[in-house]
Amino acid sequence: MSDISRHLIGLLLGQEEDWPRAFEAIVSRLGPVTDAAGRSHEITTKRLTVAPFELTDPVASDLVIDRLAYWYYVPREWLKKAALMDGTYLLNSPFTFQAMEKHSAYCAMLRLGLNIPRTVLVPYKNPVDNARWAYTSAKYNEQFDLEAIAADLGYPLYMKPFDGGGWRGVSRIDNPEDLRSAYDSSGQMLMHLQATVDYEHFARALSIGPETMVMDFRPDQPMHNRYAVTHDFLSPSAGDQAVTISRLVNAFFRWEFNSAEMLVTGDEVYPIDYANACPDVAVTSLHYYFPWAITALVRWSTYALVTGRRVSVDTDTAAYYAIADDPELDYAGRLTAYRRLADDHFETDRYWDWCAKHLADLPGRVLDWVTSPDFDRMLVDTVRATYPPHEHEQFLAHFRGLIGLWTSDEQARLAGGAAG
Ligand SMILES: Nc1ncnc2c1ncn2[C@@H]1O[C@H](COP(=O)(O)OP(=O)(O)OP(=O)(O)O)[C@@H](O)[C@H]1O
Ligand SMILES: [Mg+2]
Repeated sequence: MSDISRHLIGLLLGQEEDWPRAFEAIVSRLGPVTDAAGRSHEITTKRLTVAPFELTDPVASDLVIDRLAYWYYVPREWLKKAALMDGTYLLNSPFTFQAMEKHSAYCAMLRLGLNIPRTVLVPYKNPVDNARWAYTSAKYNEQFDLEAIAADLGYPLYMKPFDGGGWRGVSRIDNPEDLRSAYDSSGQMLMHLQATVDYEHFARALSIGPETMVMDFRPDQPMHNRYAVTHDFLSPSAGDQAVTISRLVNAFFRWEFNSAEMLVTGDEVYPIDYANACPDVAVTSLHYYFPWAITALVRWSTYALVTGRRVSVDTDTAAYYAIADDPELDYAGRLTAYRRLADDHFETDRYWDWCAKHLADLPGRVLDWVTSPDFDRMLVDTVRATYPPHEHEQFLAHFRGLIGLWTSDEQARLAGGAAG
């Protein structure tokens, strides 16, 4: 029994305190996990700090969950070193996200035959800050008619950065005046013009490994109200497509922790934003879905570590393109085939079997924690850090109510004997 394998999960964090506290609390309640050979594994967590590092320095973390590297290059370059030299398991690898932002994701999913709104990339408004620009642009840049492009796409349309995120530089364009002023203020951001999709539902799917939660998102509401707690808000077909599309995107690009936004009308699903390297998992936005999200993060990390899963950043685009090009398959047939590839990549069946055997009591432990004073303290601290004092009571009541709702649903689910 001295034969215990130890695994360290490193957390690269920004301002957030809520989900890391939740993650640490749940991991500390995990206890030793026994693998298929009967061997015992112990999982611990550590918040990583930023310091000089020699490229050959050993990396203590076996798996890292990153929330920082998309804007902070010191941890980003450290993650790349860890990926290349130490084989550290990363959620997510900066290699995949830097090369493959929103624009690449549009291209790839168009190539796979998904319903992507028409999108045009237009050259920069302002000169690029490089001594060679004036000559190159005078000689090679074509004049273009922005208004004609917009008229061809049709108003209203969206102008947004090719690598966007967090609403940076997004505008809805209703007419040529909006178009001119949005383009003038885009400066050195490289912009897409994108046709508008009219939709009944905005579905936001959060995926962690093979787990996906499709949520009813209302982008016009304030943050605490954006996720509605409505089950079955999509038709069964649209709901299934939403799961398939978000898992497909992630498997295709080797992303592990990502959110996908899809606009849905009837059975038609239009993905518009599905390259989010650090998806929002704050308790103040996810509320009811927060315990699920942190459980999934713990569950998938544990599975990856204990089963010794390795990921490489090599993609296997040919297998996906072969499905896209198969003349025998219609849209539904292609989605089914993509889903199979994605589920193979994430070992979905094996994952759920493994969790049922080796992490069977995790949901019960999470429920114990969510109903404990420790969870409530985390909630109180988060509300205090997020809202002005006169709103504390109101928001505490709001979030306690939603967490209470999750608790009673989860109790019913566990009593019903549903696992994992
Ligand atoms: N083609 C479109 N049709 C309709 N609405 C759109 C379209 N593109 C963007 N929007 C609206 O603009 C919002 C922001 O666009 P998008 O998600 O692409 O940008 P973002 O910077 O990634 O924002 P976030 O970080 O909030 O997801 C969307 O949530 C949606 O409400
Ligand atoms: Mg978005």
